[in-house]
Amino acid sequence: MEPFVYNGLPTRVVFGSGTAANLKSEIERTPCRRAFVIGGPQQAATVEAIAASLGDRAAGSFTGAAMHTPTDVTQTALERFRACDADCTVAIGGGSATGLGKAIALRTDAMQFVLPTTYAGSEMTPILGETENGLKTTQRSDKILPEVTIYDVDLTLTLPVALSVTSGMNAIAHAVEALYAQDRNPITSVMAEQAIAALGHALPAIVAAPHDRKARADALYGAWLCGMCLGSVGMALHHKLCHVLGGSFDLPHAETHTVILPHALAYNAVAAPAADDVVARALGASTDGASALFALARSLGAPASLRSLGMPEAGIDRAADLAVKNPYWNPRPLVRGAIRDLIARAWAGEPPPTHPRSSQ
Ligand SMILES: [Fe+2]
Repeated sequence: MEPFVYNGLPTRVVFGSGTAANLKSEIERTPCRRAFVIGGPQQAATVEAIAASLGDRAAGSFTGAAMHTPTDVTQTALERFRACDADCTVAIGGGSATGLGKAIALRTDAMQFVLPTTYAGSEMTPILGETENGLKTTQRSDKILPEVTIYDVDLTLTLPVALSVTSGMNAIAHAVEALYAQDRNPITSVMAEQAIAALGHALPAIVAAPHDRKARADALYGAWLCGMCLGSVGMALHHKLCHVLGGSFDLPHAETHTVILPHALAYNAVAAPAADDVVARALGASTDGASALFALARSLGAPASLRSLGMPEAGIDRAADLAVKNPYWNPRPLVRGAIRDLIARAWAGEPPPTHPRSSQ
């Protein structure tokens, strides 16, 4: 066993079907008495229903949560939070709702309760990305990590199939990068393998039967573990590349992650063969892990190419330049030619280069 450092994240997790009904008692376990219920415009009906279920524990609600947590939206929500004398937030939704809850907690130290409806995993991290005048800044703080997360499988049954697939692949990317993270440890590696296996089984079942409660439960369980990976260890090439591509060409977030992931793993597998092996094992594949991820995405009908997401071919060189510009830790050094090749393959929708399994 190699030496390691493990930092446990102090969160309470309630998992199951119908668990949203436990929200009131979960709030009453804490000193909090006045909940501010938040979500995006699409979650308005759910936010209403959850607030109603809290009775006199509901202080107010807000359904203006938006992508990338704009600070002006946070400001409006914060004024409402204070005006209704709330002492905790309840966020219902995906990354946008959770982000707003985190932004309020960062400024007020309020306790956070989260009911996730996607596989984003943000509820398990002490990380908050905010945008002001189009500029995004990311920070980490203990105040940002939500205290209580209630995973209710029933809230995910209606997540559209295409969104379930890309949200699920986006989650898997956190587990994959955790397997070769510089600060990885035995616990995150166990969680990562379990996460990939759970989502690898669940996503095809969801495509076949979107309301399959067991598949939805397995996917949500996998998403929780992926979120724990993201909250615990650092991310590398895959995230850097997706950040560059998303920012430079305005590509959709989860779809970009879905396209890039097999290619990023193939690039790093040369330097981190054990991580690639774990991915292959988790997916029950006889190929290398990167090929197995590519095959999984194809079988789910996920987008295969950056071209199909709207990236111009002329952008490949610019993306390669940006991706190697600011050095950061990655298991394999960043070589511009090889990075360009990676992006070109992803742009065209070609499979990642194959390489033999390092063990077996
Ligand atoms: Fe991510």
